Amino acid sequence: MIKGLIDWIDERIPMTATYNRHVGQYATPTNFNFWYFFGSLAMLVLVNQLLTGIWLTMNYIPSAEGAFASVEYIMRDVEYGWLLRYMHSTGASAFFVVIYLHMFRGLIYGSYQKPRELLWLFGMLIFLVLMAEAFMGYLLPWGQMSYWGAQVIISLFGAIPIIGDDLTLWIRGDYVISGATLNRFFALHVIALPLVLVVLVFLHLVALHEVGSNNPDGIEIKKNKDENGWPLDAVPFHPYYTVKDIMGVAGFLIFFCYVLFFIPEGGGYFLEGPNFEAANPMKTPEHIAPVWYFTPFYAILRAIPDKLLGVVAMGLSIAVLFVLPWLDRCKVKSVRYRSLTHKLNIGQFAVSFIVLGYLGAVPATPELTIAARVFTVTYFAFFLLLWIYSKNEQTKQVPARLTH
Ligand code: HEM
Repeated sequence: MIKGLIDWIDERIPMTATYNRHVGQYATPTNFNFWYFFGSLAMLVLVNQLLTGIWLTMNYIPSAEGAFASVEYIMRDVEYGWLLRYMHSTGASAFFVVIYLHMFRGLIYGSYQKPRELLWLFGMLIFLVLMAEAFMGYLLPWGQMSYWGAQVIISLFGAIPIIGDDLTLWIRGDYVISGATLNRFFALHVIALPLVLVVLVFLHLVALHEVGSNNPDGIEIKKNKDENGWPLDAVPFHPYYTVKDIMGVAGFLIFFCYVLFFIPEGGGYFLEGPNFEAANPMKTPEHIAPVWYFTPFYAILRAIPDKLLGVVAMGLSIAVLFVLPWLDRCKVKSVRYRSLTHKLNIGQFAVSFIVLGYLGAVPATPELTIAARVFTVTYFAFFLLLWIYSKNEQTKQVPARLTH
């Protein structure tokens, strides 16, 4: 009976063929390591955010008068409301942990290089939309940090010459951040941006499956095929990587549940202290800082004294990642076979990013501002140096077949 049903569907839509092409017969390199968990984990966290978000919306009130109280109501009175909310707020931080590791994997193994440029570009668009999604979500509880964080970020648009003031007015829908701003952020956070995200993730996977996965050796497995056309260094995605990914999910859930049940506020980094107070336009919090996943970019913004130049530098720090596939001119992909210069450059980039993240989270002092300037320079130096040395880089011999 089941076979009959499957045949009936297959005659109408290519269900089995699609399953085989993308799962059952998808040729996956045999040497995936720990770094390859984060794509499937990103999908898991995305689903978590969508599901918990839908249930939160059932009791959340998107108005300046009702928002804060409705979140308190969810936390105290709604059955398992605390769990839904913490899964969503902790999930947002987990999303960025997973995405930063996922992007770093792409960086070390050169997964952005030809022929995966479009895959990388879709990834970068996802990253941009994800940041907008998180920023708008953060306004919704209408706490002190929601309000003043949005105030700081939206006012940045005012630095743009000529159109700046009109643009901020247009974004806010009011002369100050108000219920009108909250309403539009709610609409964008709950429906518009999630739709865009899901479409982009779909395109990301289409682009991935068109060219095939890269791997820790950066060797194209399609170059070595057996007589049937199957790559010699590949196994089918299912069952090999479905099983491996389940192990990744188990490991992830141990960390995630620990944070969720024991430190849901993440020591003030996932949910900031001032956000447990309702928004008060008459009282500025002592220290306004964005959530941790924005702080590297915020540090770059603050490092530059001129507001417009700061905004430009912050924008560039993200924009430059879009052109990474064209800045890296080396033919070898994986860091394993690249020069010491490249290894050191990636290392200093990771350190700069983490230090900037710290500097963006603490109150600025003159000494720390100098440090932020130094690390802003080293952050951008990564890209400039890469462009320079990658042209004639001394690389190691890349093996013909995958190593284990
Ligand atoms: C919602 C967010 C995202 C989801 C659900 C997602 C999903 C995935 C999945 C399932 C894979 C295949 C498994 C793997 O290689 O780990 C993958 C690969 C990849 N992703 Fe993402 N991704 C997301 C965001 C991003 C971002 C922000 C970037 C970078 C800008 C990116 C760049 C890549 C690259 C380069 C690959 C190929 C890696 C390789 O084959 O070595 N992704 N993604």
